[in-house]
Formats: sequence, C-alpha cells, structure tokens
Amino acid sequence: MLTSFGAVKISEHVHWVGAIDWEIRDFHGYATNRGTTYNAYLVMADKIALIDTVKAPFRDELLARIASVVDPSDISIIVSNHAEMDHSGCLPDLVDLISPEQIVASKMGAKALQSHFHGRFDVTPVEDGGKLSLGDVELQFLETRMLHWPDSMFTYLPADELLFSQDAFGMHLASTERFDDGVDEAVLYDEAARYYANILMPYSPMVKKLLERVKKLDLPFKLVAPDHGPIWRSRFDMAVEGYAKWSEQKPTLKAVVVYDTMWGSTAKMARAIADGLAAGGARPSLVPLQGSDRSDVAAELLEAGALLVGTPTINNNMFPSLGDVFLYLKGLRPRNLIGAAFGSYGWSGEGVPHVNEILKEMKVELVSDGLSVQFVPEEKDLDECRKLGQRVAEHLGAIVDG
Ligand code: FEO
Repeated sequence: MLTSFGAVKISEHVHWVGAIDWEIRDFHGYATNRGTTYNAYLVMADKIALIDTVKAPFRDELLARIASVVDPSDISIIVSNHAEMDHSGCLPDLVDLISPEQIVASKMGAKALQSHFHGRFDVTPVEDGGKLSLGDVELQFLETRMLHWPDSMFTYLPADELLFSQDAFGMHLASTERFDDGVDEAVLYDEAARYYANILMPYSPMVKKLLERVKKLDLPFKLVAPDHGPIWRSRFDMAVEGYAKWSEQKPTLKAVVVYDTMWGSTAKMARAIADGLAAGGARPSLVPLQGSDRSDVAAELLEAGALLVGTPTINNNMFPSLGDVFLYLKGLRPRNLIGAAFGSYGWSGEGVPHVNEILKEMKVELVSDGLSVQFVPEEKDLDECRKLGQRVAEHLGAIVDG
C-alpha cells in the first residue's frame, strides 16, 4: 500500500522514490490526458545509489520518499540515465544537499548535463558495457543512443535482474499503482503505444537494433523499471511485442481520417469517405481536430496503413490546425502510409493542393490527386467521397495482403 510520499520497495535492493504528477496535461506538446510519473529508484547497497531524479518542482516529494528509507545524505552515487529535465531537473539541488561521491552518466550524458547545468558539478562518463561496483552489488551500463536522446542509457542491476530503462518502455500515466499488473490491460497498451508514437516513432530503426542487441545479451529480467509509468513485472512481453511491432511500422487495414471543418462541409466529406473505407474493407478511424490534439493523431497513426487528410481552404491555404499536425507528424516520420487529401473550398481552393504537397514530403503514397468540393457537397459529391474511400481501402487491402 502506498502511503503519502513514502517509498515503495520493488525488489530486494531497490525502492521506487519518484513523484506522481496528477495534473500535467501538456508534456512539451504531447497531450498527457492521464498525467504522468517521474520515476527515480534508490538502490540500497553498501554504496547507496540513486537512479535518475525527478522534474524540479517535485524535488521535495523525491526527498521525502528517499527519507522514508534512508537519510538522503547517505547516497553515494547518482546515475543519470537520461539528461532531459524531467529526470535531471532537481539534480543540482540534490548535489548541493547530499554531496554525492560520484555522478555518472553516459559519455553523451556527461556532455548534456554540462550543457544543462554549466559545470555546477562534475559528471563521470561511463563506457557502454561498463560496470560500477556498489560493494555488494554491481551496476552495468548499456548505451541506448537516440532512444530517445543521444545521452540515453540503460542501467542493469544483475543482483535483482532489474533493468532501469529510462524513457524506453515508459508511458505517461499517473497512478498509485507501481506495477503493470495493477493497471487495466487496455490502458497499459493504449498508453505504451501512445508514448511510443509520440516519443520513439522517429527512432524506430534504432529500436529494432536495440531489441536485437538486448536479445543477444540474454539478460534475465524480473523487472523493467522505466522513468515514467508502471514498472513491468508481469506483462513485459506486451511491451516487447509492442515495440517489435511498432518499430516495423507495417501497414494495417486501419485508415486514419484527420480533418478540420469551417461550416461542416469537409466533415460531411470525411464521414462519406469513412463509409467508403469501411465498404472497401478498411477500418476507418476519424480524428476531428476540433477536440483532438496532434498527439492523438500520432497515436492513431501508429498502427495504421493510410492517412487521409481533410481541410477547408482558408485565406488561400489549408486550415491552421492541420499545419500544426503536419509540423508535428513530419518530425515523427511515420512510414509506409498511403493516403489522399480532400476538402471543401469557396473560390480559390488551395487547401487540398497544399495538403497533397505535404503528404508527398512525408513520403505518403497518394492514391488520388485530391478531392475538392466547392462550398457544400451534394449527394453526387458524397458519392465521389465514398468512391475515394473505397479506392484507398482496396489499395490498402492489396498492400496488406501482398
Ligand atoms: Fe522522460 Fe526524455 O524524458
């Protein structure tokens, strides 16, 4: 049972001493509808080590949880698996307060921490595959560059068969449950996928390589402890299978229809396209941007094979909400998609051609030159929308079967 700001023992030598952020809803542009946790871990060995810290405003929560186990000044080693501020934000305060014997990070981590905190403390770089003795137990380090920052690394504690995996295998989910088996399975899958889509998707080739490398190392895992969300102890297979699948980005029959609308015309077209997609054997998923966030689109696209984008024309351009989504998606680099553009216009009609250009830049294979309708679609226009949906579905079916 979790008590207020107490630590939670998760294995023979390790306590969770992180912080729960129930309130965050925007994590640098990623809608975190279920909040998050910043996980930090205390390794109780001859030399006590702290694995990662928490976001700066949660310093006191971290210290209170540590103090429920040990005097914080007894910590000898701080390991920084990842320099991003949600894990290093209170590192300078902690260093001032407890004066640890050593702070360690990957080579790139040591540089990143220098750039963040400008030499306020020394950081010892550790080698990929390097080891650090804590007396009765040992830590082993594994660089995981670009998963998802250049500095990222894993730390493995062989004594407890426990992998501290920083952001990898994490999710944004605030909960008093510390383990995966305390969380509804559908929520666990949904949030793990959403996290992958929004944080790790651009680095999918590296994820594939990492999975192969970890498999070759053949390390036993009783626990995988990420820096966000629950600790995996019962369902880690779900995470590994998910990462293997998501890093492949193989097309499925799911077709995501993202659109915005001014006076309902583009929305009518989107619904007719969805009918056509379904009639052709695809699984349409509509994402109306009035009420959805860019990160919802990314999450929807993770297991999709098609992206259809609808925009009205406004001031000789596409709708600004779509500009936001495209800017975000281009960075996430989704792969292996087919698609099409559609939308209503008044007199000039630049919206659909603009969307076509961006879809081409994103290497989406266009199934159509785009479907534009002036002002309000009539039944014959909606028929064209259904036909477009059906054409995309049939093309997608051939790819998936192929
Ligand atoms: Fe949770 Fe990349 O920081």
